[in-house]
Amino acid sequence: TRPLKVALLGCGVVGSEVARIMTTHADDLTARIGAPVELAGVAVRRPSKVRAGIDPALVTTDATALVKRGDIDVVVEVIGGIEPARTLITTAFEHGASVVSANKALIAQDGAALHATAEQHGRDLYYEAAVAGAIPLIRPLRESLAGDKVNRVLGIVNGTTNFILDKMDSTGAGYQEALDEATALGYAEADPTADVEGFDAAAKAAILAGIAFHTRVRLDDVYREGMADVTAADFASAKRMGCTIKLLAICERAADGGSVTACVHPAMIPLSHPLASVREAYNAVFVEAEAAGQLMFYGPGAGGAPTASAVLGDLVAVCRNKLGEATGPGDSAYTQLPVSPMGEV
Ligand code: NDP
Ligand code: HSE
Repeated sequence: TRPLKVALLGCGVVGSEVARIMTTHADDLTARIGAPVELAGVAVRRPSKVRAGIDPALVTTDATALVKRGDIDVVVEVIGGIEPARTLITTAFEHGASVVSANKALIAQDGAALHATAEQHGRDLYYEAAVAGAIPLIRPLRESLAGDKVNRVLGIVNGTTNFILDKMDSTGAGYQEALDEATALGYAEADPTADVEGFDAAAKAAILAGIAFHTRVRLDDVYREGMADVTAADFASAKRMGCTIKLLAICERAADGGSVTACVHPAMIPLSHPLASVREAYNAVFVEAEAAGQLMFYGPGAGGAPTASAVLGDLVAVCRNKLGEATGPGDSAYTQLPVSPMGEV
């Protein structure tokens, strides 16, 4: 089988991990997809920057030419922001590629139009990494719960702000000090205002509400309050009441089913609530569905490797679709590992 060609747009915190895992897990990816995947080009802004493990011959500053090549099967967009990401994704569809993106800002703003373009060209658009980093959330909502009726999605969907709030609460760190640490760890957006003012969480809320309630929800539809004004005094008051403070995204279907609401704001959480114990850049999301009841999704919500895990999952799915496998993965590519009757605890 011919290798499937992947163009990587962006090679920063997330993109560099995508490239690394594509190389280190090449054999596993080949087994799971049924064909090898080949990194065919890497578009960046600063070509002279040294990028470990990336063949310099693949690096280009001309992302447009890369997506227009015509032989690219999948474009992975991890540049971020609205433009040039939107035009590049549209151009990719027009030139025969499917797209995997981690770009919540773009999907929240223009997801419907991008899906329409993908459909028009018979291509896929996947974006599991856009919401809650490594946590599988989009696919469970879109697929596993497709036969149920989701009424509520609520939780912590921004790693940077959870990291800052956690540090302020548990170590007494100052806001700026904690934000600088989150940025150094690769959690924050290129412009961290998107995190601390709640825009990033609002974009994720819009995406989640749209998928959960099968309706269009845009960033502007989401009520938004950031956490930049939360102070040490607020934490002291919360503590006196047996609470802590978290930035929550709350998406709800009205009881009569006729409307939905989505909002993001800081909230007092009783220390006994599971969300209170979500530390550092972890995310946790509760989904309430009519038949399923309450489900909780928890895991690393930001960072290069966790986010790359979600991107790679989408890459496998898109490549399988490209090869025409209509059904989900079977076990033919499994490797038999030693199995003991009881694991060591
Ligand atoms: P970075 O800022 O670390 O990386 C962005 C990359 O895009 C860089 O390699 C940059 O090039 C490149 N780039 C920027 N502009 C252009 C352009 N015009 N043409 C070509 N390349 C360009 O961002 P992240 O990796 O952190 O984030 C990428 C995306 O993933 C964003 O949409 C973000 O919201 C999303 N995301 C990020 C997560 C995280 O934890 N960081 C988690 C989940 C999603 P150069 O290297 O030369 O500067
Ligand atoms: N800046 C985002 C966050 C990245 O901190 O959650 C993950 O989407």
